Amino acid sequence: MKATARAHSNIAFVKYWGRKDESLRLPTNGSISMNLSNLYTTTTVEFISSLKQDDIVVNGVRDKAINRRISKHLDRVRSITKKKLLAKVVSQNNFAADAGMASSASGFAALTVASIAATGVHLSEKELSILARQGSGSACRSIPDGFVEWLGGDTSEESYAYSLFKPNHWDICDVIAVISSKKKDIPTSIGQQNAQTSVFFNTRLKHINEKIKRCKELLKEKNFDEFGKLVELEALELHSIMFTSWPSLIYWEPVSLTVMKTVAKLREEGIPAYFTIDAGPNIHIVCFKKYVEGVKKRIDTIPGVSETIMNTASTGSHLIEDHLF
Ligand code: PMV
Repeated sequence: MKATARAHSNIAFVKYWGRKDESLRLPTNGSISMNLSNLYTTTTVEFISSLKQDDIVVNGVRDKAINRRISKHLDRVRSITKKKLLAKVVSQNNFAADAGMASSASGFAALTVASIAATGVHLSEKELSILARQGSGSACRSIPDGFVEWLGGDTSEESYAYSLFKPNHWDICDVIAVISSKKKDIPTSIGQQNAQTSVFFNTRLKHINEKIKRCKELLKEKNFDEFGKLVELEALELHSIMFTSWPSLIYWEPVSLTVMKTVAKLREEGIPAYFTIDAGPNIHIVCFKKYVEGVKKRIDTIPGVSETIMNTASTGSHLIEDHLF
């Protein structure tokens, strides 16, 4: 059977950085995110008896390292579903991979949903989230709809994401200032392993549960200014840990800083907007829909910003009928 899934990338408001179990990808702390409407991966999977090895094409390319990681994930699927067949996989992003826009999140979420459906086995949303997490941590948050919490958990069964609110809960947007679409020098998986070398890491862990609780309250109350402050400070905290880990990670480019300062200026001028940043130089600007045009206009004029991508909160992963082969 052939199945195709679409999964959206997500932006974390409270971040996942550091793991307490490398092979299971158990995070040191829980996190909160929103699925992004305009960044997604489409993946078609078919298990075929004549194949001698998995046949995998991602964004038009057969890349050995990427394909090894995908085959490993297919092994998890084969093990859970007790199927032995090898698979043909074709996957396509509608955005640049590996540039800090969480392509591994949407990629592994789409792969999980498509490959499980292609085996004909049914898994619950929670089971899909647990499985996706093992491919790429943040992928577990791209399974449920809208605004999502990933429960850190102490075991694999306890570490999964669920929907806090549906996409229509709040009309906040994420305008991404795309600064570089080049592949990252140091992948997040290495950064995740080294997070604990930062002197700030334990300090972060002391208040992280309180922060997650507060973030959920602010989302529920739709208290935008307090929410924005929390989100912006959280991003700066994450990057302080990245700067002070060894080897140190400086994902920012000079233009990243210019955009951050422009966001502060927009606020002074009366436009409520706050930024957040993942593992890359791009800046995500959170604001209400009615301010998007104004924000875009301003950010688009900054030299070094190649484009801006507007996202609303979106659904999680789902099956679609348009197969890629
Ligand atoms: O899932 P990974 O290993 O790509 O890590 C994602 C890490 C951040 O994007 C920096 C934070 C997050 O929670 O998404």
